[in-house]
Amino acid sequence: MLDKIKKILHEVENFRSTDIEEIEQFRIRMLGRKGVIGEFFSEFKAVPGELKKEYGAWLNELKEKATDKILALRSALESKDNSQTVSDLSLPGETVYLGSRHPISVIQEEIIGIFSRIGYTVEVGPEIEDDWHNFSALNFPVDHPARDMQDTFFIKKNPDIMLRTHTSSVQIRVMQSHKPPIRSIFPGRVFRNEAISARSHCIFHQVEGLYIDKNVSFADLKQTLLYFSKEMFGEDTQIRLRPSYFPFTEPSAELDVSCNLCGGKGCNLCKYTGWLEILGCGMVDPNVLENCGIDSKEYTGFAFGMGIERQALLKYGVKDIRLFFENDIRFLKQFRSVLSS
Ligand code: DAH
Repeated sequence: MLDKIKKILHEVENFRSTDIEEIEQFRIRMLGRKGVIGEFFSEFKAVPGELKKEYGAWLNELKEKATDKILALRSALESKDNSQTVSDLSLPGETVYLGSRHPISVIQEEIIGIFSRIGYTVEVGPEIEDDWHNFSALNFPVDHPARDMQDTFFIKKNPDIMLRTHTSSVQIRVMQSHKPPIRSIFPGRVFRNEAISARSHCIFHQVEGLYIDKNVSFADLKQTLLYFSKEMFGEDTQIRLRPSYFPFTEPSAELDVSCNLCGGKGCNLCKYTGWLEILGCGMVDPNVLENCGIDSKEYTGFAFGMGIERQALLKYGVKDIRLFFENDIRFLKQFRSVLSS
């Protein structure tokens, strides 16, 4: 029996083929259910005990070598097949799609770029806030109806803790930790307990701006916002400020830009007014400065806050805010770059 095993081993070692059918026949003859090696294993039962160790070692070696040989011949054939598929090197390559930044990140980075070019730094604050930073220090008195302007997600166990409703809370943190002059913007995510619709969402993004120094005036605010609007929506963009109310600014205003779709003539996007509302702003209320330990007789400043989704809706002409959160690849792929290999 040992001679027969050695003979088959010799045959396995010398077997060569590039024909898949021939390799398969060889596999069946060697390793198939009624194959040669299986026969040896059946005969092995009758081998006398003292020879079992030696015979067993030979048999195992044979089985291993046959298996390895078949695998090696098959994989040599496969790699040959692959190389054959690139038969025409002049054909155009397959398109490789790269992922890309989310449109909200793109707009956020654009806004950061615009303000950093005029010396604004970027600061961030926590998304989970306390009442002081989100409301009280911003001059929202307890029980003041202005708190209703922003439907808040409170933490059940502690009504002093909430998800921030705006990035204005970061103003307080920065004024408490930095001495004026302060010139910073604060991008981030905010949360409001609102029904989700095409126009509003319970999660969205804002960028807040804050400028505190000696002799900062409303004219500085207006010029800063004009610069921003032209950079963001185009050189021909006009702005107008409408009086408004926010507890933390006095006076307060809302900024409109001329509609970048119709150039101010009136269209569906601007509801035939020629103007698009883009942000809230105003001179920082002296109470807010004092709450943060800044002398309101020495320093003045302005603040502004805008929704990033809103800027993206206007810039890209997207009609439904929910698209920014659903991560539907058919929507996102419109913002991605394509690289051809
Ligand atoms: N925090 C306001 C909001 O979420 C936006 C805002 C308005 C921010 C006026 C400001 C500001 O800094 O001065 O609706």
